[in-house]
Amino acid sequence: MIIAALKSPDAKDLRSVIHPETIGKLLELEGSSVIFESGIGKGINVSDEDLTALGLSVFSREDCIAKGNLIITPSPLPRDEVDQIQSGTSVIGMLNPFYALDELKALAEAKLNAVSMEFIPRITRAQKMDVLSSQANLAGYAAVLEAAQYLNSALPMMMTAAGTLKPARVFVIGVGVAGLQAIATAKRLGARVEAFDTRDVVEEQVKSLGAKFVKIDLGETGQTDQGYAKELTEEQIAKQKELQSLVCARSDIVITTAQIFGRPAPRIIDEATIKQMKPGSVILDMAVETGGNVEGSAVDEVVEINGVKVVGVSNLSSRVANHASFALSNNILNWITDFYDQESKSLNFDFEDEVIQSSVLVFGGEIKNERFA
Ligand code: NAI
Repeated sequence: MIIAALKSPDAKDLRSVIHPETIGKLLELEGSSVIFESGIGKGINVSDEDLTALGLSVFSREDCIAKGNLIITPSPLPRDEVDQIQSGTSVIGMLNPFYALDELKALAEAKLNAVSMEFIPRITRAQKMDVLSSQANLAGYAAVLEAAQYLNSALPMMMTAAGTLKPARVFVIGVGVAGLQAIATAKRLGARVEAFDTRDVVEEQVKSLGAKFVKIDLGETGQTDQGYAKELTEEQIAKQKELQSLVCARSDIVITTAQIFGRPAPRIIDEATIKQMKPGSVILDMAVETGGNVEGSAVDEVVEINGVKVVGVSNLSSRVANHASFALSNNILNWITDFYDQESKSLNFDFEDEVIQSSVLVFGGEIKNERFA
């Protein structure tokens, strides 16, 4: 089996799906070899020579696509590239299926197999493969550093001879994986942190990090069996906006992370709220790529509304590309090594297995995952 690793065509995405510190396990697979697209490690300061010295072979993108029996990719492949893939090949990676439907259809029409790492089920056994969590964790960290750069004050309290500097107030909305790391990071930097989520089960987690949980009664909210938030009604969103605007008004930094799996992000901060905030304060919209939590936010732009900076950054985990690549490559290779059959020296698509059922969206051209279909 030839395993071919591709680099991201997006120049702003510095991550790599292979990493020198994790590649060993792939190279150990008996009966397989690893090739990679030239330049794959550039964003993490790893040269082609560094990788070839480890036993991998370097090729052009076209050759990787044509030669691979298992293609690892950080992004969906366009139709013209899918047409160059050998039949029977499996494509694994960040296929972004909700936003790249045509690319997924192309894989199905070419009768290939597609493994979407976004669909790893949230069960204990599969945590080591969960790319959404590994990247959201680093994105939450990067979000705080990014927002802090736009604030004209420091985050910690400082007792100085020139007087006492008050700590910054940070409000994190949405306490999933990214939100928890954002809270922890802001606390480490010395800020006073408050947080809110529609899933009240996270209250204990917020408190355990030393932050305050903001209670907003929205009636019945809840979560799915996978731990994802349920979508709110329009009335609930309106109530949330109204009650959380008081917290926004007293905050120096607001970080929004609210997401609904497979749906556009909920719009939870509008211009009326922004107008209540202090000039000089910062809102960082972590959901900017899936529609945005904040009215007026734009991808890779800083929009100033009434003196408030609304920051939208794409691909936040790429800001810490080395760690993000380490985690991403480990997630993917854990999937591969768990399902590599030593005897047949190929992948074992056992549809009795919960991880296969969920993550394999296309098999032999057929859409397999019912939830996605
Ligand atoms: P996510 O990225 O889908 O959403 C981020 C956060 O936004 C969630 O906490 C969600 O409740 C919140 N949210 C949605 N609508 C909101 C609104 N209107 N206002 C405020 N917040 C809103 O979530 P993520 O990070 O994927 O995690 C969801 C849960 O799944 C977490 O509790 C996490 O710990 C859990 N999890 C469990 C795993 C497992 O293997 N058991 C693996 C990974 C996560």
